[in-house]
Formats: sequence, structure tokens, C-alpha cells
Amino acid sequence: MAELDDPVRDLRERIAAASRVCVLTGAGMSAESGIATFRDALTGLWSRFDPARLASEEGFRADPQLVWDWYAERREGVRQAQPNAGHRALGDFARRRPGVLTVVSQNVDDLHQRAGNADTVRLHGDILADRWLEPCRRGRACDPAAAGIDRPPRCAECGNLVRPGVVWFGEMLPPGAIEAAERAARAAEVMLVVGTSGAVWPAAGLAATARRGGARVAIVNPHASEIDGEAHVVLRGTAAQLLPRLFG
Ligand code: APR
Repeated sequence: MAELDDPVRDLRERIAAASRVCVLTGAGMSAESGIATFRDALTGLWSRFDPARLASEEGFRADPQLVWDWYAERREGVRQAQPNAGHRALGDFARRRPGVLTVVSQNVDDLHQRAGNADTVRLHGDILADRWLEPCRRGRACDPAAAGIDRPPRCAECGNLVRPGVVWFGEMLPPGAIEAAERAARAAEVMLVVGTSGAVWPAAGLAATARRGGARVAIVNPHASEIDGEAHVVLRGTAAQLLPRLFG
């Protein structure tokens, strides 16, 4: 009856009793920290930019300075942002219950890490990291972060361009990331999917993976997502409102 009366309390009790919890997060997790989501009709970045132009290698090669400047603006936004109550609830839980929680994020910000989930599985890379656009033709191991202040920075010796360390559309995920995420989803007794539209694979498939592994699957999102059907329970609310009640 608890579930019928109060799905939040039921889920909170399941999380408290679990020895393995996996939380998959998307851009909605950072929305209350002031970082725009991609597809939110009002503030979403995609409503103002052509994603194919900005978040792809061909877009970067076509106009390196435009793409570099867009990422520089987003990096500054990430640096100014603070983890919200949802991030803090997950970080505090990890401190109280070491080894129970695995956070898997599609986000390229560092708010989970700053809140205390240092081992967050980054599916789409790190916006604050630099990397070379090409493998170095001279086999050198130069540091992209030391490549100067051009927009984008370039290697003084071979002209290689620096690009942000994020996964662009059509690119492979970081080695091992999806495997680590699938391991955590399969092992989870409770799987929480927070703040994602479920539009991008393979991240969107993790809810079904967890469900097949026997997990109780719940979604936290103020709006409908493409993977609501994979959840046993959908909580219509925001990360900062609900996560403190579920993990507090
Ligand atoms: N709390 C929880 N969820 C929220 C909140 C909030 N405060 N605000 C918005 N949301 C939800 C929206 O309803 C939406 O379902 O967050 C979701 C954001 O969806 P997207 O903007 O599509 O972001 P995401 O699902 O993370 O996108 C996946 O697509 O563009 C690529 O690589 C990029 O990682 C990104 C991936």
C-alpha cells in the first residue's frame, strides 16, 4: 500500500535498503544550477544553435573559432555554476553509504564530482578538458592545455588544433564508459533516471538494461521522456526537489 499512497516514500525506502543503486543523469540534473538543457524548448541551447554545426567534428573543422567560442562560453557557465540540492543529495549519500551508489552522467559539467561523486561515469566526456583534434603526426605527447590562447589554441610546432574533451554527435564514447555504465545498471537493485529526455543512445538504453537485471526503475523528470515506458514509477518533479527526499 505504501507505493500507492506515496511513491516517493516507497522509493526512498527501497534506496535505503539497497546495496546497489545506479543513477543516470542528463542535462535536467544541472538545470537548477543554471546550466541550460539541450532540448528544453525555452532555454535549450539547441533552440539557438544548429547542433550539427556546433557539436560535431565537421562543424568544428568548418568553423573552429565559432565552435571554440561556444564551448568557452559554456565552460565559463560551468565554472560559475554550483552543484544544486540534487547533486548534493547524491554526494552526501555516497559519503554515508560508500560503494552503494554509481552515478552515470550524460552531462559534461563537473557538478556531480564537485558534490562528492568523484567516480561518476562520464558517458559524454568533460567540457573542461582539452584534447588534440588530430593524433600528433610527430608522435609527441604535448599538453593541449599548454597550447596558448588562440581561439582555438593550436600546437606551435605542428599546427594541431585543440578541441574540447567532449563526445560529439557521431563519435565513439570514451573507452570503457558504456561498459561501466551497463555493469552498474545490471547490478542495480534501484535504477533512477534523472533529467534526461531519453533521446540519445546508448545512454537511453540503460533503464531497460537495469529493468532486465531486476532493478526497480524510477524516473525523475518534470516532463514526459522517451523512456517513461521503461520505468516502474515516474515522479513528476525536479532533481533539486526530489533527490533530497529520496536520498536525504
Ligand atoms: N529536473 C529534472 N529534469 C529536468 C529539469 C529539472 N530541473 N529541467 C528539465 N528537465 C528534463 C527535461 O524535461 C528533459 O527531459 O531534463 C531533460 C533534458 O533533456 P535534454 O535537454 O535532451 O538533455 P539530455 O537528455 O541530457 O540529452 C542527452 O544529448 O545533446 C546530447 O550529448 C548531449 O548529453 C546530451 C544528450
